[in-house]
Amino acid sequence: MSTVLVTGGAGFIGSHLADRLLAEGHRVISVDDLTTGRIANLVDARGYGKEFTFFNMDVRAEGLLPLFERHRPEVVFHLAAQSGVRASLDDPVRDASINLMGSLNVLECAAAVESRKVIYAASGGTIYGEPRRLPAKETSAQSSRPLSPYGISKKVVVDYLGFYQRYRGLDYTALALGNVYGPRQDPHGEAGVIAIFASKMLAGGPVTVFGDGNQTRDYVFIDDVVHAFVQAIDRGPGKLVNVGTGLETSVNHVLGLLAGITGYDRAPEFGPLPPGELRRSALHIGSAPNAIAWKPWTHLEDGLAETVAYLKGV
Ligand SMILES: NC(=O)c1ccc[n+]([C@@H]2O[C@H](COP(=O)([O-])OP(=O)(O)OC[C@H]3O[C@@H](n4cnc5c(N)ncnc54)[C@H](O)[C@@H]3O)[C@@H](O)[C@H]2O)c1
Repeated sequence: MSTVLVTGGAGFIGSHLADRLLAEGHRVISVDDLTTGRIANLVDARGYGKEFTFFNMDVRAEGLLPLFERHRPEVVFHLAAQSGVRASLDDPVRDASINLMGSLNVLECAAAVESRKVIYAASGGTIYGEPRRLPAKETSAQSSRPLSPYGISKKVVVDYLGFYQRYRGLDYTALALGNVYGPRQDPHGEAGVIAIFASKMLAGGPVTVFGDGNQTRDYVFIDDVVHAFVQAIDRGPGKLVNVGTGLETSVNHVLGLLAGITGYDRAPEFGPLPPGELRRSALHIGSAPNAIAWKPWTHLEDGLAETVAYLKGV
């Protein structure tokens, strides 16, 4: 099996991906500066001994090239990012520094050591802006206007991937992920509404909904997302592929399901919808079966139950 490199490998999605790649026999190099990622997420991966190596490093660092030269990864999974929409509204320069310049450093390094492919975590919930038609198709990225600096940087990197494919011979697949949820998602962060609601409900505290709760998202379970990354290793060259469920699910619906699972009976509080947030979102998933032989299989109720069970054990 091959050597692969995962940036953002101590994060929510990156750590699950590293576990899966190790289980399939790959040698995994994980790079993360631990801004939001956690060493605790690496417990399973560390059990693989020499097959797993972790580097505490910023993807913008000059030291990234010697690391690539030493390990020569065949495939690079690029997930390291400033991953907060609101953080990007407050500090677009920091967002661009990590999400654009950091991505370019990763692409330069991958091209320099002749990696075969980069598989990129794009964002289906932001790169299409407020879609004219739902569910959003990959082709709508051509004329979209993302609402946040995060969405802009995530979209621009897809264009850079095209450049590196054409002029540097570096293949890519960009996965436009829906709202990913599941075990290990940080309930203290701002991105994971499900982890935040579920942990507050388990603690019996108040739950605050931004907006009226009728805003919709495409919630996709972590195991399904990890599977899409693995499927892309040998599939979907030069493609942007949506990875979601195709279903529009309201925040209020998620709340109701979580309340049932956790036994929570308090009414939620409602606050203003922050800027940069979409009203409605769902991803068209018609191209994924052909492009990467993938479709989602986890029902929301099952994924939520698994997430709550994990949070109970933390
Ligand atoms: N979770 C979602 O719903 C979702 C949806 C769409 C796209 N994505 C994308 O998927 C990727 C992973 O997201 P996640 O939910 O696991 O978030 P996460 O914050 O858990 O993971 C990001 C990881 O990148 C690391 N990181 C940040 N800046 C870095 C830097 N300069 N150098 C090295 N490492 C750095 C963090 O420490 C963290 O471990 C991100 O690129 C994100 O934009 C996530």
